[in-house]
Amino acid sequence: MDASAFKATKNLIKHYSDHALQSYESRRKKIINLLNKKLCPEEGWEDSEIETFLHELAMMDSNNFLGSCGVGEREARFASKIVARRHYYMGHGIGRSGDITEIQPKAAGSSLIGLLSNFMVLDLLKSIGVPSLQKCIIVPLATGMGILLCLRTLHSLRPKSKFVLWPRLDQKSCFKCIVTAGFTPVIIENVSAEDGLIGSLDEIQNTVEKVGPENIVCILSTVSSFAPKVPDDITGIAKLCKSYDIPHLINNAYGIQCPQYLSTIELAAKDRVDLFVSSTDKNFMVPVGGSIICGFNKKTVELVGKMYPGRGSGAPSTDLFITLLNIGKKGYIKLLDERERNFLYLKSALGEVADEYGGKVLVTPGNKLSVAFAFSQLESLHHKLFTEIGSMLFSKFVMGSRLVAPGDHKTICGFEFKNWGSHTNESFVGYLTASATIGVERKDIDNFIKHFKITLHKVQKQVNLKVLCENYKTVSQPDCS
Ligand SMILES: Cc1ncc(COP(=O)(O)O)c(C=O)c1O
Repeated sequence: MDASAFKATKNLIKHYSDHALQSYESRRKKIINLLNKKLCPEEGWEDSEIETFLHELAMMDSNNFLGSCGVGEREARFASKIVARRHYYMGHGIGRSGDITEIQPKAAGSSLIGLLSNFMVLDLLKSIGVPSLQKCIIVPLATGMGILLCLRTLHSLRPKSKFVLWPRLDQKSCFKCIVTAGFTPVIIENVSAEDGLIGSLDEIQNTVEKVGPENIVCILSTVSSFAPKVPDDITGIAKLCKSYDIPHLINNAYGIQCPQYLSTIELAAKDRVDLFVSSTDKNFMVPVGGSIICGFNKKTVELVGKMYPGRGSGAPSTDLFITLLNIGKKGYIKLLDERERNFLYLKSALGEVADEYGGKVLVTPGNKLSVAFAFSQLESLHHKLFTEIGSMLFSKFVMGSRLVAPGDHKTICGFEFKNWGSHTNESFVGYLTASATIGVERKDIDNFIKHFKITLHKVQKQVNLKVLCENYKTVSQPDCS
């Protein structure tokens, strides 16, 4: 109903309609504000307000027009009412064939959601750590594919280049995206720094000199990573990129939830950051499927939008649109504060485990999201036992912890990685990593610690270390006699 419809109700419900109109107008103001200012609201909206708005937006899409008669091959028809409801009756997706950010003529409502969610994310990111950010787009691709799209875009600006310099980070998709994009990765080894493992700046510079800056598509650095890797020295890399005129792309997969990481990106951008990519699900608790591509130069981000072939699913934008309206800026900042506290809690709880059962929490102050617990007390364990510790935890529904055993080599897309999982060729003591990311609760950490203690207890009690050594001894293991 609009104001004139409310007035018409006066015939039926007399002056009571004035009260209802007042309430309606104050809710309406929120929508008008959003449309005019294009900012993420400070306070979250009620579910009913959001759902009403979504239904109104859906009515702006051609498939919901009264008397609409589509005769094209793509008319946002739904065979199932469940699917229609799941998407709020919007089926056209976002973008046009030549640009994922373009307005879709058949879908004004869906296009509005796409545009507004991009603006809302931009506003939020500017307020929590990257004030100079110029543009963000949500693409219906998860992080690895989002990075791939950025790589192809950067390459289109220097078509003769083919190398991507990549400080090692043992996560498959962020490496595979380089190869899938059709480029040649140059793996930069990590070195031990005071606060953890970090891509070697010297090696980056030497490689740039060796292969020639003009042959490099970009340097792909990483901020959010599993301990003991810490964020790459992105300010140092940015300086190199500036002086050699090489694009700088940052993998910030789950780093939006960490304002310190964002501030470092802001600092690096003073020299050179072309784009950074973050996951929608990892940072905003929505289903997997989207990533946010951000840049300090509008044109570069627009080029990424144009590189996307075809239309795309509107679901990741809509999920983020709903989420940001629902929790507002304040709600998101509150989640960030809770996360930070929970990370400290996790680290101190693991410290207590180490005091009780042996082992050691690795000191990686540069990593604000992930922590590694080294099994220094079980140093001579064979790889198989690490897998068993992992399985024991998994069987207790502990999800997301990673067991990293020495000597696990892997070949990915023809490239060999020694000690896969550890980010390094150097020998190391096996460890477990755990993270406290957005949405984690104390009870999750308490449960994990409880099961971790039970697991360690079982390992240490049931199997006497000496017997273990006998059972799991390999040629490369130390003498257990
Ligand atoms: C650092 C990093 N980069 C990239 C990815 C790939 O993300 P996605 O699965 O969203 O493509 C991940 C996933 O865990 C990651 O941790």
